[in-house]
Amino acid sequence: MRKIYIFDTTLRDGEQSPGVNLNTQEKVEIALQLERLGVDRIEAGFPAASPGDLAAVNAVARAVKNATVIGLARSREQDIDAVREAVKGAQDPGIHLFLATSPIHRKHKLKMEKEQVLETADRMIRYAKQYFDKIEFSPEDAGRTELDFLCEVTELAVKAGATVVNIPDTVGYLTPYEYGNIFKTLKEKVAGIENIQLSAHCHDDLGMATANALAAILNGADQIEGTINGIGERAGNTAIEEVALALHTRAEYFNAKTALNLKEIAKTSRLVSKLTGMVVPGNKAIVGANAFAHESGIHQDGMLKEKTTYEIISPETIGLKDSKLVLGKHSGRHAFREKLVDLGYDKLTEEQVNAAFGKFKDVADRKKNVSDEDIRALLEEKIIETPEVFALEHLVVSFDSHGTPSASVKLKTAQGIKQHTAEGNGSVDSIYHAIDAISGEVVELDDYTIKSVTDGTDALGEVHVVLKQGEVTAQGRGVSTDILEASARAYVDALNRLIDKRNAPTRNRRDNVTLI
Ligand code: KIV
Ligand code: ZN
Repeated sequence: MRKIYIFDTTLRDGEQSPGVNLNTQEKVEIALQLERLGVDRIEAGFPAASPGDLAAVNAVARAVKNATVIGLARSREQDIDAVREAVKGAQDPGIHLFLATSPIHRKHKLKMEKEQVLETADRMIRYAKQYFDKIEFSPEDAGRTELDFLCEVTELAVKAGATVVNIPDTVGYLTPYEYGNIFKTLKEKVAGIENIQLSAHCHDDLGMATANALAAILNGADQIEGTINGIGERAGNTAIEEVALALHTRAEYFNAKTALNLKEIAKTSRLVSKLTGMVVPGNKAIVGANAFAHESGIHQDGMLKEKTTYEIISPETIGLKDSKLVLGKHSGRHAFREKLVDLGYDKLTEEQVNAAFGKFKDVADRKKNVSDEDIRALLEEKIIETPEVFALEHLVVSFDSHGTPSASVKLKTAQGIKQHTAEGNGSVDSIYHAIDAISGEVVELDDYTIKSVTDGTDALGEVHVVLKQGEVTAQGRGVSTDILEASARAYVDALNRLIDKRNAPTRNRRDNVTLI
């Protein structure tokens, strides 16, 4: 298999992401992690940009031992000198020189004719050659450069001493077919091309950076440039992890591989995200939080039967522990049962699982992700099986900060559904007055506590109440995403227990302990 070199520009093009500004220490930390990941080349910065950049590149150059450390330079002597200074102390130093070649850049930015571009590139590569063995030359905006002129520039760069010619699709304009064709043409037409490496550098303006990089590989590119998490100027660069995993997963198709230690990918991604402050979107390929999460019932069922049904990459490959079965409203009974077993509820009967699944679906309808804690709370909602004298059917609460709260409650009773509307000092008070009116029971609220089971505004709320009637006390528990509903459920639960206790005081409740 052909080796594809990985040129990481997280610290240069990646740092050009709007709002990102890494200090020297952060750059060194990322560089050392990139080294553990096994990238071949690290572009550490643009030394001529500022003394701070130069110092940071120098710190990286001194810290890194196994990768080539490269500094970026415009085609100017003072930029090349700045890189010389910056990479002093590197085990394996290199320079990346660039000069725009496209008609738009020649006319508006450089104000140069083709001949001047050729002459400048030749002179600057030769100047750099006095100091560097490893010289990468980039015809900036190669993607929009006339193909025959690009061939001419490439041939000149090879003759002048470049060891790598990089083909930047600077503005992310090309399609995979067009980009691949540039590599094919260069390979066919440029004399001496076999003596250098060809590199691909893509931007993601049209969402094609990874596809373009892969097309370049299929057409002979030896090196891919990119960043971790695909960060970079505007829409970013090719995401290195995407290319690496595409080559790994489709090895037979590409017949090419990187030397990356894939198990370091997740860690590297987290570090870059943390230090740059650029949050990785949940649906980002390979490193997004949802990349190995399955929510739909059909997918979860398939995953549990055989992971390869819905997973082409195992999370362990990139250093993650396991795929996540996220329980939500699309989850099915199979995944739910697995989760119960996972949580230690492995002795439930079919009937109990069904009852729990019903409750879970209820919560999942109102809450995006149902966490393990939510499920535990649901299972433990009813610790002692009690005959249901009353069951909450419906609840409407009206609250006005300038008026009196009222609640309309419907309870299922032995005589059918009964409804009552009552007012109170607060919403909970009005609910409890309405329930009292329906039940006809005279009870005292001895205790009321509320807590959140999980985090976030859509967390499950758990209410505990203690009711008292003469000598008899009973506690009840209610869980819901709505604290008023949880309050009503807890009260009805306590009422049922209180009635049961009053009617059968000697029953040994421990025998009836169940989880749902
Ligand atoms: O995108 C680009 O053209 C660049 C060059 C400096 C190579 O980043
Ligand atoms: Zn770029």
